Amino acid sequence: MTVTDPHAIDVNDPDRILEIAKSNVDPDEVLHAVKDNADALFTWDYGKGQREALDKLYEKAKRSQWNGSTDLDWSVEVDLDNYQPLTDPFETAYFYENRDSPCYGMSDEKRHEVDIESFRWSLSQFMHGEQGALLCTAKIVETVPWIDAKYYAATQVVDEARHVEVFSRYTSEKLGGAYPINPHLRLLLDDIINDSRWDMTYLGMQIMVEGLALAAFGLVHSTTQEPLLKQMLRYVMADEARHVAFGVLSLQEVYDGMSSAEIRERQEFAFDAALRMRDRLMRQEVWERVGVDQRGMVSHLLAMPWEMKEFQRLLFAKIVPNCRKLGLLDAGDGWLRDRFTDIGVIEYEHHEDTTEEYVSFDLVEGDDAPLAS
Ligand SMILES: [Fe+2]
Ligand SMILES: [Fe+2]
Repeated sequence: MTVTDPHAIDVNDPDRILEIAKSNVDPDEVLHAVKDNADALFTWDYGKGQREALDKLYEKAKRSQWNGSTDLDWSVEVDLDNYQPLTDPFETAYFYENRDSPCYGMSDEKRHEVDIESFRWSLSQFMHGEQGALLCTAKIVETVPWIDAKYYAATQVVDEARHVEVFSRYTSEKLGGAYPINPHLRLLLDDIINDSRWDMTYLGMQIMVEGLALAAFGLVHSTTQEPLLKQMLRYVMADEARHVAFGVLSLQEVYDGMSSAEIRERQEFAFDAALRMRDRLMRQEVWERVGVDQRGMVSHLLAMPWEMKEFQRLLFAKIVPNCRKLGLLDAGDGWLRDRFTDIGVIEYEHHEDTTEEYVSFDLVEGDDAPLAS
């Protein structure tokens, strides 16, 4: 990954964010190739259960499979004209009641269009992120040296295929089609796949991308009244909680043996991923679609005080405690703690980490044996 030095760039420069957006690919592109620089590793050590927590997770994953075609009720109709997606009340006020906002004075009809397009856009990015997870986890099957992790990661590949399938079906059948991948998300996924170090796939995908996804799914799941989406997210979250736990359990062992210079590289990688994920939340594509000035909206969003960005902060509620559990917050001179403090998310450091929390997402009743950590 091209590590961003937060002191060398202006993280709040709207032109930097819009410039990256322009790097988007040809909208008619169907295939996107990324160089995968890692070695595929065979192991001749087939001893199952050497890593007890990973083995438990693997056994649990095999018991928790579901079928997106038959376990979800696809007959549910979604009426977009009368649908009210989740909106952030602080953001709504900031967009529509603020004279500096390009959305100031917008009609109710147009506001509804913004809400629906934002919803369609979010679900589309979930779908693209799921495909990123599918490819990254297939890569982990190849690159991780431990048999217990290869077994577990193989179950995650199936999980992610199912997630891509259900988000794709939902956006095409219920929302009238998907948005292309957001360029910030695409660059992040490219960087994760591109990196030759196998633990970086875990850090980028299982900790950062999936950590944010788990928080985002939770937010939508707890508020949506749309029964199909609610059911779908409940199933997906049960899988995602295992995936994030897999990342934390695997990386704990790897980081224990690393030098401080190596840990610093991981801290910078984590922050760079966090910044890309924050930038993608500016949703430039939506502003373009609804005919609102993109630069004006990106600048307006960047100027929004962090304490008002309740939803954006909540999205980091899983990432920060998991980074703490991995020792990434305070390693060295506390570099990552300072960065997370700068962007206003350090408040989540003492939330439950996912190795403890994941059992609460279980679908299988009584199947709540805690993982060793
Ligand atoms: Fe997933
Ligand atoms: Fe996942």
